[in-house]
Amino acid sequence: MRIFVAVLMLLGLVAAPTATASAAPAAPQAHHVGYDRYSLTVDGRRVLLWSGEFHYFRLPSPQLWRDVLEKIRAAGFTGVSLYFHWGYHSPAPGVYDFSGVRDVDRLLRMTEELGLYVIARPGPYINAETTGGGFPAWLKTVDGRARSSDPGYTAAYREWLGKINPIIARHQVTRGGSVIAYNAENEYAVNVDPAYMTQIQQQARADGIDVPIVHNNCCNADLANWSSGPGAVQIPGVDDYPQAFNCADPGTWGTWGEGVTRRLRDDAPVYAAEYQGGAIDSAGAGYDKCRELTGPDYMKVYYKSNAIGSGATMFSYYMLYGGTSWGWLPQPNDVYTSYDYGAAITESRGLTTKYDEFKRQAYFMTTMAPLTKTDPAAAPKPADPAVFTQARANPDTRTQFVLVRHPDRRTDTDVTTTLDWSTPDGDYQVPVRVGGRDAKILVAGYDLGGQRLVYSTSEILTHVTTGGRDVAVLYGREGEQGRTVLRYASAPSVRVLDGDVRSSFDGKDLRLDYTHHGLARVLVSGGGRPPLLLLLGTDESAARFWRMNTEAGPVLVNGTSLVRDARLDGDRLALRADTDAAGEVEVFAPARHLVVDGRYVATRRTPSGSLLGSLPGPRAVTLPELTDWRYRAEPPATGDDGWTVADKTTTASPTKPKTLPVLYADEYGYHYGNVWYRGDFVADGTEKTVSLNAITGKGGSYLVWLNGRYLGSAAGGTQADSDAPVNPDPGRGDFAVPAGTLVKGQPARLSVLVTNMGHNDDWTADDTRFKQPRGLFGASVGDAKIAWKIRGAVADAERGPLNAGGLYGERQGWHLPGGPAWRDRPPSTVEPGVSWYRTGFRLDTPKDQDVSVALRFGERAGKYRVFVFLNGWNMGQYVSGGPQRDFVLPNGILKSSNTLTLAVVSADGGAGSPVPVSLVALGNHWTGGLR
Ligand code: GAL
Repeated sequence: MRIFVAVLMLLGLVAAPTATASAAPAAPQAHHVGYDRYSLTVDGRRVLLWSGEFHYFRLPSPQLWRDVLEKIRAAGFTGVSLYFHWGYHSPAPGVYDFSGVRDVDRLLRMTEELGLYVIARPGPYINAETTGGGFPAWLKTVDGRARSSDPGYTAAYREWLGKINPIIARHQVTRGGSVIAYNAENEYAVNVDPAYMTQIQQQARADGIDVPIVHNNCCNADLANWSSGPGAVQIPGVDDYPQAFNCADPGTWGTWGEGVTRRLRDDAPVYAAEYQGGAIDSAGAGYDKCRELTGPDYMKVYYKSNAIGSGATMFSYYMLYGGTSWGWLPQPNDVYTSYDYGAAITESRGLTTKYDEFKRQAYFMTTMAPLTKTDPAAAPKPADPAVFTQARANPDTRTQFVLVRHPDRRTDTDVTTTLDWSTPDGDYQVPVRVGGRDAKILVAGYDLGGQRLVYSTSEILTHVTTGGRDVAVLYGREGEQGRTVLRYASAPSVRVLDGDVRSSFDGKDLRLDYTHHGLARVLVSGGGRPPLLLLLGTDESAARFWRMNTEAGPVLVNGTSLVRDARLDGDRLALRADTDAAGEVEVFAPARHLVVDGRYVATRRTPSGSLLGSLPGPRAVTLPELTDWRYRAEPPATGDDGWTVADKTTTASPTKPKTLPVLYADEYGYHYGNVWYRGDFVADGTEKTVSLNAITGKGGSYLVWLNGRYLGSAAGGTQADSDAPVNPDPGRGDFAVPAGTLVKGQPARLSVLVTNMGHNDDWTADDTRFKQPRGLFGASVGDAKIAWKIRGAVADAERGPLNAGGLYGERQGWHLPGGPAWRDRPPSTVEPGVSWYRTGFRLDTPKDQDVSVALRFGERAGKYRVFVFLNGWNMGQYVSGGPQRDFVLPNGILKSSNTLTLAVVSADGGAGSPVPVSLVALGNHWTGGLR
């Protein structure tokens, strides 16, 4: 915890802890968290919270949590926003598990070690794209409307908060930890119950939460926002997805509005609680298209417009790393296994051009201390109305921040004009250029280290004071003109080390004019100020810089593909860094020696005063072929153990069944994935049709056998979804009884395999959507009286409740490594139903490389789905013809020796060989990073 405070001190974000005389180990340093209309404060110092959303439950590998968190920190983020997923921790009422991949205490410790603030979001309801919106499926059988003060629901959620709140509480900044805010509920906007909203906050306080309580209001709309009245929170925030989610059309802009966060309370900072950082792929267009929809141009225009338009100082971008909805984590309606989200950090942990844009903005936002307290200010007037300006200024320093863009953000033209700019240091005519779909924040009247920046038409990346001088990185679009004006008492000496930069001094202002190209370098000294090294780059060259804080002050690194950490030890700078290719590394630090990932790097001193050396790249890796497959068949409803009699006649679900008994899987404690049904009856020989209904959520299906004979399959349905009219006959399938199958007076058996796709969310807080059943909804075979049994998953303590469903092979542990050897080769053809395949492979990637591996599906005809089990972990569901072909296999789950098992559920049988799959590398880095 002390590391956390030290890091924050270096960031200038908290006051230094007071020294104690005692030699005993210091207790974690407590801090005071406060706020006013401008910002959060820690021990009275203003905090710019630049945060991104990360879900531990979508990355089942704690060693990779650190990797992602380090990448987040390296881009200049000061915080992360974390949902905590009730259903992920609770397989049954009263049962909670925080071990292994569910060890959120470990997660919060990591954020402390890395100096990242946390916005803790434990719901109880959380995220629309995960099963049940984060509710455990057992809650569907509890009486009482979820997300209300109804006693049934209250008792259930109190159990969850009673477990998670104390964990969050002990990691608060007020106790020396990282949690700076606590989010009550999630977009609680319709069907609201203020008593519930009050009670969850009361419980948080009773459980020791003393940081500000916040909420994320939905959609920037006029729905309940909890800014006043009963249930109000201290800092109400706003969620905004201005680009909407149509990834199939990535060129559209601003489908859902202007995206400027509203101020909801006068006494609290403006909080952009979930600002769109990517998109769900409901159209199945592929996440690269979502990344385009929310790419760097969108980020420039919308994020910068929002910062200046709203004055927010609390930002969180949703998602920053999306990850994988592995196992049965997905909600059925809009998502699939990958939750890549088109985010800045890909599912395979790769850094994208969106990451670069985040870094450019984050370094700026967190370097410029005056940004934490601004009011709207008069904006400089452009000569050409085709350019729009808007400004804010810090009332104490008078520093101005001016947004420059097109009035209509969608405009694609390139305009050059002059601003009539009244800066704190005088009036100027300032040339600016705005390209299509671009925006800039220009600064005037700023104390840049020991310098005085009068104004610049370049944007500021960051600046540090290191080795007795200021080093500043400014940037602009490649080929655009830039001008930077600095004030000096007398003519300074100007030395252009690199690039084409013209300078003039008029007795008070040093004016530098240049074209942005590559990286120009200018050394300015004298003039009554400390020396300044000005680095004038482009978007691309600026993004190559990394700003790291060490205990001996900040340093800048130019090059590598990631700097995770920097330490100054005397005259030695030690970096932990990654490269994706061999190349140069340059450091601006008070150091004479450079060590990267534990290796000494030969360097030379450059005219810029930096150290320059070279680093190796990763060696190419060859992944093994997947061969030598073995096979096991799973006959329909096989095995006599583990069946539960299904004979209930009532249900807590508002959706009542078409026939009795109630066959909903949740009623019998089977909550996730596939379930088998067995219906036994005595035939009278006249039955013509098997009539079934199954509710599976979108994309589910079921397969039917009568006396072991395959009758066919049907798509599962949905019902009572508040988005759609109620369907009285959901997921209907009528199957003709083949002649001679049923004989009067003879026992008969119906076997049904239902693939349930997860549980609906509860955005509407009315139970109809969330408590929609899963499994059979109606079943009849003529007038036969059917005795039903159902069989679902067995518990998996290590992998948690969402790993496996109720396939026979899953119950037998066929998906787990080990067990008796699989001897059978795949047959030449298989019947419709469930076929299991297994192979093993070794992965011998170099220890000092981070290789991100995925399983790629090739083409094969037919209607089938495949459950991918890596070393027992269900890494997702491939659906033939579906949008996802690559399934990321995270390191940690992926080891040097691996067992890959595929469960193929096929509606039409066919080739007995396994579906075509191969291993692919989605990333390969030389690293000292993964610890
Ligand atoms: C918000 C919600 C998030 C997520 C997002 C869309 O409404 O709070 O959890 O569902 O929409 O991806």
